[in-house]
Amino acid sequence: MRTHREIYQPNPEFAANAAIRSMDAYWELQNKAIADYEGFWKTYADEKIDWLSPYEKVLDESNAPFYKWFTNGKLNVSNQCIDRHLADKADKTAILFEGDRGDVEHISYAELSLRVNRLANLLREEFGIQKGDRVVLYMPMIPEAAYAMLACARIGAIHSIVFGGFSAEALKDRIEDAEAKLVITADGAYRKGKPYMLKHVVDEALEDGGKSVEAVLVVKRNHEEIEWVEGRDYDYNFLIKSQHAECPYEVMDSEDPLFLLYTSGSTGKPKGVQHNQAGYILWAQMTMEWVFDIKEKDVYWCTADIGWITGHTYIIYGPLAAGATTVMFEGVPTYPDAGRAWKMVQDHKITQFYTAPTAIRVLHKMGEHEPEKYDLSSLKVLGTVGEPIDPPAWKWYYEEVGQGKCAIVDTWWQTETGGHMISPLPGATPIKPACATMPLPGIMAEVIDHDGTPKEVNETGLLCITKPWPSMIRTIWGDPDRYVKSYFGDAVKDGKPVYFSGDGALVDDLGYITITGRVDDVINVSGHRMGTAEIEAAVKKDPTVAEVAVVGRPHEIKGESIFIYIVLKEGHVNADIAKHINELLANEIGNIAKADHIIEVPGLPKTRSGKIMRRILRSIAKGEAVTQDISTLEDPAIVEQIETKAREA
Ligand code: WT7
Repeated sequence: MRTHREIYQPNPEFAANAAIRSMDAYWELQNKAIADYEGFWKTYADEKIDWLSPYEKVLDESNAPFYKWFTNGKLNVSNQCIDRHLADKADKTAILFEGDRGDVEHISYAELSLRVNRLANLLREEFGIQKGDRVVLYMPMIPEAAYAMLACARIGAIHSIVFGGFSAEALKDRIEDAEAKLVITADGAYRKGKPYMLKHVVDEALEDGGKSVEAVLVVKRNHEEIEWVEGRDYDYNFLIKSQHAECPYEVMDSEDPLFLLYTSGSTGKPKGVQHNQAGYILWAQMTMEWVFDIKEKDVYWCTADIGWITGHTYIIYGPLAAGATTVMFEGVPTYPDAGRAWKMVQDHKITQFYTAPTAIRVLHKMGEHEPEKYDLSSLKVLGTVGEPIDPPAWKWYYEEVGQGKCAIVDTWWQTETGGHMISPLPGATPIKPACATMPLPGIMAEVIDHDGTPKEVNETGLLCITKPWPSMIRTIWGDPDRYVKSYFGDAVKDGKPVYFSGDGALVDDLGYITITGRVDDVINVSGHRMGTAEIEAAVKKDPTVAEVAVVGRPHEIKGESIFIYIVLKEGHVNADIAKHINELLANEIGNIAKADHIIEVPGLPKTRSGKIMRRILRSIAKGEAVTQDISTLEDPAIVEQIETKAREA
């Protein structure tokens, strides 16, 4: 229902049964959190978590910003996601897997339990994996990836999933940073009807590095031919059969690490974001209930890859903690045609659908009227995540996919936040296109200045979370100083450093928060987060490159694309520089780091102190006129030369 100023009211029929049914209900919760923060969280921790032994303190701030939640409580996340559901949900589908080629498998909670227990035994007994050991997963989107995550959680091992699109070099860096003992991978999987391979990337990564790795466990999915290193590689399909069906879970402390997930920052190499047990799993479950309004009979589908935080929290941990049916899809939503996703919604009667703006833009472009061909009446809630969504894509999603009756939850959050932070509640929040709206109950998100002053209405400021929350990042693996510097160095409120997200945002006259995008040197390509420093470091490995600067450029489908300026060393000419640099980026980082534009320029715009003026380079990349003052540059004439080069490109 649309009212003035393009505000869409929640569907009243849906709201009547929703977990949070009105803005009054929202404010009741949020005001409770404001009045008694620890009491608010205690209520949910007591209600949602199956404590094996009770916690002592809700929040320990004594070593801020290294916050501790639910201190000395004991639990096990695989119990939280599996065992405790077996009494009443043993036969319910936990994971509904659909393969690329249309093969479907329903894995019940009982079946999931069996498979996770067997794998947990395999890891513990045959590979000697113990509590605290790191296990790297380099996996396609197959159920075994979920089993591996949960098996690690069961025995207290810390998993670190590396997205299958990352290169051998990137995989090696992550294995080495975490000093992983075991890598779990697959021969490959299927994409667009054809097999693709993964195992060779692991082989390459371990060729001259990753010395901590003692074994590689290989799931056979496509059964294509692969290289095999005797004594290092082990066959999952064979070994799993003989494993015992019961593996007692490890009793974990609330603050034991659960997983690492590497993500890009504005400087340096990717950082291993560490999430711990209790706070993470609590918020994963709560947001499933509040934001997706998950109900007993629902079939929920998140299209992310498990290599990203969205896949962790909203394909595996959140849905399973909530006892839901979660769809896992191996393929791409555009194969065999642009109706694939809608056919899946129809076939499985999907009730919540969660995807990225890039995917919505692609599906819109390829099949504007495709949704009409399918019965999408099962849908109740539509979600988006990962980057700002533009109003045309939002409207198509709302009208064509949701048929004007589904709420769109535009969820803002990050790898570091563990779960949703700012989002409409589907039964309560009047929604505004392309706006993340309000912080969730319990989350103190504010748009402020460096000194904590709130910004005026519609004025851009720093998007900060001014109180610790249960699912927040605990540290950067192996680099606690970097944790403090990266997140608590930019803004202070009431004399205390607060978490700064790296995003800019503004608050409108409704009190709604709109995300304006990163204000640091992080770019977001198709919802994939990349650090310009990381790309620059890779480009500098080319011996002919003297200087490089990387910026983001707005892109119709991808949100942003990568634009690279290169200065070659004296005496070097390289006609094929663009092709060459993209090959280098594919090797060093992965195909996702390939640039759309690579131009060679005679120099970079620098201040007299040698600082590269990225704002000028961003304007030029966009094709905008440079309006910045260039008189203070070391060589103002360079700007025009770069503009000319960019126009030619
Ligand atoms: C960055 C975090 C959160 C899981 C996927 C990405 C951007 C995320 C939104 C949104 C506008 C968004 C931000 C954020 N972002 N959600 N709804 N609207 N921007 O996780 O890789 O850690 O990236 O994604 O810039 O900082 P990530």
